[in-house]
This record gives sequence, C-alpha cells and structure tokens, in this order.
Amino acid sequence: MAGPAGVGHTENWSSRFAFVMAAVGSAVGLGNLVRFPAEAGSNGGGAFVIFYIFCVVMIGLPVLLAETVIGRYGKSSAVDSVSKLARASGRSPLWAAAAFVGMLGAYFILTYYSVIGGWVVYFAGVFVDDMASAVSGGTLTQGAFAGQNSEDVASMLGTLHGNAEMMVAMHALFMAITIFVVARGVTGGIEKVAVWLMPTFFLLFLAITVYSMLTGAFTETLSFLFSFEPSRLLDPNVMLSALGQALFSLSLGSALMITYGAYASADTDLAKTSGMIGSADTSVAIIAGLAIFPIVFAAMTPDLLAEVLSGEKPVPQGLGLMFSTLPVSFQTMPGGSLIGLLFFVMVFFAALTSSVALLEASVSWASRQFNISRSMTAVVLGLMAFAIGAVASFSFNTLADFKPLPFGIFDGLELFSILDTVTGKIMLPVSALLVAIFVGWIADKRIINAQNGLSGGTLALWRFLIAWLCPLVIAAILFFGLFPNLIKG
Ligand code: PHE
Repeated sequence: MAGPAGVGHTENWSSRFAFVMAAVGSAVGLGNLVRFPAEAGSNGGGAFVIFYIFCVVMIGLPVLLAETVIGRYGKSSAVDSVSKLARASGRSPLWAAAAFVGMLGAYFILTYYSVIGGWVVYFAGVFVDDMASAVSGGTLTQGAFAGQNSEDVASMLGTLHGNAEMMVAMHALFMAITIFVVARGVTGGIEKVAVWLMPTFFLLFLAITVYSMLTGAFTETLSFLFSFEPSRLLDPNVMLSALGQALFSLSLGSALMITYGAYASADTDLAKTSGMIGSADTSVAIIAGLAIFPIVFAAMTPDLLAEVLSGEKPVPQGLGLMFSTLPVSFQTMPGGSLIGLLFFVMVFFAALTSSVALLEASVSWASRQFNISRSMTAVVLGLMAFAIGAVASFSFNTLADFKPLPFGIFDGLELFSILDTVTGKIMLPVSALLVAIFVGWIADKRIINAQNGLSGGTLALWRFLIAWLCPLVIAAILFFGLFPNLIKG
C-alpha cells in the first residue's frame, strides 16, 4: 500500500469476534437507548415497534449484508469500495455517490451525536456526585438525589442547556475521546475499545434490565410497547420514522458498514455476522424500552399512568425522556444513585463505540483521498464536527428560536433537530436506496454472490429483497414521508 504510514487500508480486524463487537458497537448506541424509546413514545408505541421490526428484517438485514459485501470486496474506504465494484462490473464509478451521501450523513450525525454524548458524560458526573453524598449520608439503599425536590432534578437538563460553556466543554470532551480512539487505528483503537466496552455494556444492560423489571412497572410497559391502534400502522409519519430509525440504529445508509466490512477477512461469513449484528441491535433497542419505561412508569402517579397508557396523555418525549424523566424516576427507585450511575456509564460505552464509527467512516476516506495520516485526519475532521455541533448545541440556548428552514419536514425545527431530520429521514434512506439498487441491479452478480456466503433459497430470497422490496419500500416511504399531504384526505 502506497503513501505515508497510516494511510490506506492495510489493516484487518484481528478476529471475527473483534469485527462483530466493533460492528455491534457501532450499531448499539444512543439510537437504541435514547432515540428508539423516544420515537416509540411519540409514534404510538406498538404501531411503531411493529413497523420497526418489519423494517429491520425486510430492509435492514438485506442492506446490512449488501453493505458489508461491498466493503469486503473493495477493501478500501466506502466511496472507493463502491467505485471499485462498479468498475469491475463495467459500470460508472459515479455509483460511489451511494456511499458519499451516506458518509456525509454519518459525519453530520457525528456533529450532534457528540453533543448528546457530552450530556451523557455530564449526567454520569452528576450521579457520581450523588453517589458520594449517598455514601456519606447513608442513603445508598434509597432513591437518588435524597432531599432534593423532583422539580430541581427534572430541570437539571434545562440547567445544563442554560449553561452553554458546560455543554460545549462536555461535547469537547466526548469528541476528544472519539478522536483519540479513531486516531489510534482499526486494531489499535476502534477494535480495542469495542472488545472491552461492548461486553461490559451487555453485562450492565442485563443487570439494569432485570432490576427494572423486578422493581418497576413491567406489565404496564408491555402493554404500552406491544399494543397499538391499527390505524397508526399506516400513518406515513410513523412509517418514515420507523424506517429512519431502523437504518440509523443499524448504522446503515451511512457508509459505515461498508467501511467496517472492508476490514473483514476473507473467511468471515458475512451473512451470519449480519444476522448477529441485526439481532443484537434490535434486541437492545426493544429491551431498552423494557428497561427504561418500567422505571419511568413506576414513578408516575396511578392517574397519570392510566392516562398515558390509554393514550390521553403523551409519554415524556424526545431527549427529555432520558435526561429529565429518568433521573426523576431514579429518585423513587431503591439504590437509585448507584443504578443511575451504572445506567449513564452504560450509555456512555454504547455512545462512544458509535461515535467512533461515525468518525471512522469519513476518516477512512479522507486520509486516503488527501494522503494524510489517519491521526491527522481524525483530528481535523473531528475538530470540524465539534465546531458544527457546538453551534447546533446553541439550539438549546440562544439559538432556540432560530428555525432557518420553514418548509416541509423542517418546518419549526431548530438547527439541532434539522441535523437529525436531514440525516435520519433523508440522507440515510437515500444512501440505503442507492446501495440496494446498486447491489440489486448494477453490480456484477457473480462478484456479489461470491462474497455474501449465501446459497440456494436464502440467496434467492436475499436477491429478491435487495433488488425489489428494499428499493420499492424505501422509495415509497421516503416519498410519502417527505410529502405526507399527498395521501392525507
Ligand atoms: N447506530 C448508531 C446508534 O444507534 C448510530 C450510528 C449511525 C453509528 C450510523 C454509525 C453510523 O446510535
């Protein structure tokens, strides 16, 4: 491989376990723990969950396999891998646009992802503090924030938002850690973090879920997450949110699985690993709902809970669910300080392995494209993303009323939500759509079939899904999601 040290892609994952942990680490993140419960909450619970599972199985898994196949064939950055495969198939290298859109999407996600990562670090700190006072005050077995009233606890997020220096400092810290890991390389950084943090994550996750099921409002949660009004199932907004969430959560349409697939060795069974990544990610999303809602519901008054379950009152929505409702809920849970601390440490681990992936997608391309070392590229791109995120974080502060795009799905959104919407509802679906068309119709079938580890009926099924169902469903959802008025009436 030409170029200065660290440029290009000579590296491979050191084992299949490392590949799976890194890919699962990228998939499992704030998307599962924050975005999924929030989206499920604001899109009618069960209807969203059912359509989400449909999207994962029928669209997510086939696209996941398609992306890792492209990556392992290309053994390069996502953009170069697609153009290499296109050329080998006698097609235009411009198909690389499929990966380019996704890579930009990943980069824009990183900008605001790191802001929320900063909040996670901050709240972990708050709970460390609270643990310390619980230990000295002997209240460890009681709820968190002993002696504080719940309004104060609920407004901690608002207080953080009002404190721009603190918010930007936490964002800087989170981004610095991300840059550090990516700069150290695939085996020296990304993989090390994944093989240590992900197993620890799963242990914590299991412990907290069991705790939450045993002490929280579990049956109410089940009925919330799995019962639904059939009419909402065909609501185009619910569908677009579910598709966007499935792609976001599986890190698809973001060039990432192409990038990580490039580091997979020739003997890795990509179909099998895709199945493992998909099931791990989906289980975490759904179980996250089973871990978070029991705690939140347990803290509600019976009247409020009944209203929430009957749909009269909405569940706490958006980011407030994790950063405001949940801390308040920990106030009434036994051992709340400790559980709260473990909870935010767990979220931090998940977020870090994802933000590393978000940065890697563009670093792997830019370092090769501009012939700069990996560490330099990581620093430059990371700092730029930090700057964009820092500006966007003022959406919670002085820029709260700055709503620059007053049309369509952007109407009424501040910068922060615009970044989330343009990536999740447009860039990721567009990239996934192009990947599906590329693999289904454009790329040479012999090359693809030699890489995917499938044969017989499953191969035929996958080919059908990637060539027909994925493009049609993604295109339809994108279209009606962007122009919902067309089918209302
Ligand atoms: N899948 C990650 C999450 O759920 C986010 C992500 C998207 C990471 C795209 C990498 C690429 O949080």
